[in-house]
Amino acid sequence: MADLVAVYGSPRRKGNSSLLLSRAVQGARNAGCTVQEFVLRDLRISPCLEIYQCQRNGECAIRDDFQGLRDHILAAKGLILASPIFFYAVSSHTKIFMDRFQSLWVRKYRIDREISGKVPYRRKGIFISVGATKGPRLFDGAVLSVRYFFDVLDMELWDTLLCRELDMEGDVLNRPEYLENAYGLGSALAAQLYA
Ligand SMILES: Cc1cc2nc3c(=O)[nH]c(=O)nc-3n(C[C@H](O)[C@H](O)[C@H](O)COP(=O)(O)O)c2cc1C
Repeated sequence: MADLVAVYGSPRRKGNSSLLLSRAVQGARNAGCTVQEFVLRDLRISPCLEIYQCQRNGECAIRDDFQGLRDHILAAKGLILASPIFFYAVSSHTKIFMDRFQSLWVRKYRIDREISGKVPYRRKGIFISVGATKGPRLFDGAVLSVRYFFDVLDMELWDTLLCRELDMEGDVLNRPEYLENAYGLGSALAAQLYA
């Protein structure tokens, strides 16, 4: 199991969010972290079907690639999640992945009856996102979703990298400042994990 997990949420393999995430991964590795990368479009993860068998023991009834990815994330100290903005939200791949953690929400808040905000976070996470437009509220919906998703993982939303005006594949290559920020964020997170 790695120190850090990186989850690629774009359907584009070499899209803008993927290029930023791989730069962040480079930064983390060069700072001494082991990083395991997962590309959601390559995994078989069903949407949550609201079966709620998880109410018995916190385990999801659907058996697919979710369990393996979940275990890597829970064994890690941190997570970097990248998703483009699709209709002011995260991508479908990312949302499907996040929704499956409802089984952990059930375990945490219904079975273990943990009280929100009482237990300090054990993990740190970064959210990287990109969108084509530049409105001030472009990332509001996605950041809120990710913040509460991270909470289920006992993970603080430690930082974000939110990049506007990136649309076509590779647009980010013309924005070296975004790529530098991604690299810096990866190395800063790695340093934090061992602080
Ligand atoms: C289905 C879909 C919905 C989108 N919705 C938005 C949106 O609401 N706001 C926006 O600024 N860009 C939107 N975009 C543009 C993408 O965010 C943009 O192309 C981004 O760079 C894609 O990131 P990627 O290369 O990492 O996949 C949308 C693109 C698609 C395909």
